[in-house]
Amino acid sequence: MALGSASTLFLPAFFTTSCNANGVRDNGNFASYDDIFNETYPFTLDPLPYAADALEPAIDAKTMEIHHGRHHQAYLNNLNNGIEEYEDLQGLTISELVSGLNDLPSGIQTLVQNHGGGHINHVLFWNTMIPGGSDATSSLADAIDRDFGSLDNLKEELISAAGGVFGSGWAWLAADSRGALSVVQTPNQDSPLTDGLTPLTGVDVWEHAYYLRYQNLRGDYVENWWDLIHWEKVSEIYEQVV
Ligand SMILES: [Fe+2]
Repeated sequence: MALGSASTLFLPAFFTTSCNANGVRDNGNFASYDDIFNETYPFTLDPLPYAADALEPAIDAKTMEIHHGRHHQAYLNNLNNGIEEYEDLQGLTISELVSGLNDLPSGIQTLVQNHGGGHINHVLFWNTMIPGGSDATSSLADAIDRDFGSLDNLKEELISAAGGVFGSGWAWLAADSRGALSVVQTPNQDSPLTDGLTPLTGVDVWEHAYYLRYQNLRGDYVENWWDLIHWEKVSEIYEQVV
């Protein structure tokens, strides 16, 4: 990570402006709001927006490789196999499928709940982390102050929610359609979308997300995840909601 040192001075401007302070490119590798929420069938597994070891030591490379390449791929395969049989649903976006879960044909509801949720939850997870974290825009920072009192209060609430998930699930920062923020938990691969909220970022507390490095120390994993939050991307999503 030599970028940011004197060597930066000799790099072309387009390169320096496309890197954050940690030297990770942030122009085109990260999914846009549309990429995340408006993808349609057939769904695809995009590469991680950074190297598998880029989030070390908070999240180790082996965990990232297995989590992304096997667990996420499995949700995706099951989702595509299920939707393949429902031509009428193939034009719906992933967020329409998951948010409209209860209106889908009964034969596909559980599959979309588990594997549609599993897909969008993980796409959001990968794309709202970045080595070293990043900064929120003023509109999101102001909303956090308004709804939580401070960023520290949000951190405390989110980490507490993650620790309180019984078994497998997620803790989220979510927004309603008017931009009001809240911290919510979901079990398994359920998404806040099904409850009418837009997830802005979330922490995966399935054991597959952390057990290789942390074993039973979920709290340490969640604390370290907090420092990876790509607040600039979270802000971009928030600004599409309000
Ligand atoms: Fe996961």
